[in-house]
Amino acid sequence: MKPSETTNFRLLPALAIAAAALFSCKAGPDIIRDNVENAEIQIGALMNASEEGDTIRIPSSFQDGKIVYVPTDDWVSGFFAGTLWYMYELTGDENWADHARKHTEVLDTIQYLTWHHDVGFMIYDSYGNGLRLKNIEGYKDVCVNTAKSLSTRFRPKAGVLQSWNTDRGWQAERGWECPVIIDNMMNLELLFKATEFSGDSTYAKIAISHADKTLENHFRPDWSCYHVVDYDLNTGEVRRKCTAQGYADESAWARGQAWALYGYAVAYRFTHDKKYLDLSEHVADFLFNSPTMPEDLVPYWDFNAPGIPDEPRDASSAAVIASGLYEMSYHTGNNEYKEKADKIIESLSTPAYRAAQGTNGGFILMHSVGSIPHGSSIDVPLNYADYYFLEALIRKQNIEKGLPPVK
Ligand code: GLY
Repeated sequence: MKPSETTNFRLLPALAIAAAALFSCKAGPDIIRDNVENAEIQIGALMNASEEGDTIRIPSSFQDGKIVYVPTDDWVSGFFAGTLWYMYELTGDENWADHARKHTEVLDTIQYLTWHHDVGFMIYDSYGNGLRLKNIEGYKDVCVNTAKSLSTRFRPKAGVLQSWNTDRGWQAERGWECPVIIDNMMNLELLFKATEFSGDSTYAKIAISHADKTLENHFRPDWSCYHVVDYDLNTGEVRRKCTAQGYADESAWARGQAWALYGYAVAYRFTHDKKYLDLSEHVADFLFNSPTMPEDLVPYWDFNAPGIPDEPRDASSAAVIASGLYEMSYHTGNNEYKEKADKIIESLSTPAYRAAQGTNGGFILMHSVGSIPHGSSIDVPLNYADYYFLEALIRKQNIEKGLPPVK
């Protein structure tokens, strides 16, 4: 045996320990670093593609070998700007902030959009993150103006924000009067923030009214939730409970459950009203006790989809749930929520969900579902899956440094 081989042999136990340590570290800083390095390549490529030509385009997905771009009034238009802000937050590299700013400011007119409820997503993910990270002049005004626009959708009799208009598109064919979708919980953060920025309590009051009504009417005894609740505009009574994007009216559409878990954790953050945090915990119980939750904690697109296990997974739901769980672990002090979130992040970081570099059009994650009933964006990358995945990494990193997950 040559001397070097003898040495290597003696080192084997130490190497094994180092390898084990390396493996266990994968759950901590290493998995974050590895994902950031990967995102720099992927998101960098996607950013370059979206900036080719004279105008900044908004990438939303990658389908049939092409990047799909959306107009500024699409509900997903703020996520890519937000993704760039998160790249800045994760790397500290000013180049990301410069690009994030450009992608944010193409959304300038959205502050006046009043025909749907998703302006909370669109403006808080873009301008809101820019304001938080760079305190850019004028961004606060955009957030407050947007809150003003969103508030025009408040229906006092029912005490809710109307999610969709009923005079156009497929929504006009459902016989609804005032449809409210569980997703609407995600637009409340902007309202709470607008009250902080402006001192006008109207926005937070609307958010609280909406959260209370949704709590009252969207949830079933097992704490799963309906996708759509339709209200009578004159009496405020519930007219119907049903679905638009789930498998069935009585099923548990995965992203709807994710929005509920995350949305009520946010409502708790601003109000410290325990019933909101309890609600998020009930939703988590539903999710993790569901017989159809897969081992890797990346849900099927609907917990009641009839063909499980041969149904598409939805990585976007998993990413939203992980991010929400990190926030919940902080508010409750229950580390089990962090452990579950860590497990989701580990799953999403495997080649089963995370695309190989140079593929997937530059998006990070594969296997999300837009809307199966509408036959749109099935088993594809989606920009909001990447946005919440990076957000979850930031929250994980903050918690592991002993900081609050949300700054
Ligand atoms: N807010 C629409 C969706 O989650 O697909």
